[in-house]
Amino acid sequence: MSLKPHTSAALNRIQPSATLAMTARVTKLKADGVDVIGLSAGEPDFDTPDFVKEAAIEAIRGGQTKYTLVDGTVALKEAIRGKFRRDNGLDFGLDQITVNVGGKHTLFNALVATVDPGDEVIIPAPYWVSYPDIVAFAGGTPVTIEASAAQNYKITPEQLDAAITAKTRWIIFNSPSNPSGAAYSPEELDALGEVIRRHPHVMVMTDDMYEHVWYADFAFSTLAQSTRPPTAIVGVASAADLIAA
Ligand SMILES: Cc1ncc(COP(=O)(O)O)c(C=O)c1O
Repeated sequence: MSLKPHTSAALNRIQPSATLAMTARVTKLKADGVDVIGLSAGEPDFDTPDFVKEAAIEAIRGGQTKYTLVDGTVALKEAIRGKFRRDNGLDFGLDQITVNVGGKHTLFNALVATVDPGDEVIIPAPYWVSYPDIVAFAGGTPVTIEASAAQNYKITPEQLDAAITAKTRWIIFNSPSNPSGAAYSPEELDALGEVIRRHPHVMVMTDDMYEHVWYADFAFSTLAQSTRPPTAIVGVASAADLIAA
């Protein structure tokens, strides 16, 4: 007799990760001797830089192996505050910063903590595959806005305005975008910010993961700079600085 473990309704609402399935397939093809390049998981093709490794080893040797404050050590939050001031012209209090274990964990915590059944979360498409699943896990309804190739995979202020309803809780916004590479100019962000300011019940989750990953003549700015005063901003920057290092 085989025992089938019970899985929760929340778990049953989500699909296995397409990214991980593709990564597993690439690993298998490589093992079979196939010359294949994996373009699924967003991982740098170089090792963690030595100064990062050394700092981690030094911290462990120095006894930093105990529980920290749940939302991150004061030193780390100070460093994050400094990064937002230096790179983005944004000033956050330490009580507005929380540290998690990566971007996915940050999105998960924020959505599970704020989304109720029936709430809508706007996601411009094409999107990173995890967004709708995390929304569904939290009990919300993903609402996608299609950004076609003809519009360079960017949503327009009119599309955003039309997608917002009384039930909209968040917009999850990602620029430069995975997977399209679309990157919004400050003017385009300001136009979206103007729409968002007219709907103060809508919170903004700006996933700035690829802040430093662009190849054209481009200067990054974040939607957080265009939505002041912000209702809520979650800057997901976990991998951005490592990739840039
Ligand atoms: C747009 C985007 N946001 C967030 C993440 C997840 O980041 P983390 O690996 O820190 O959970 C990824 C990773 O591929 C991503 O592409």
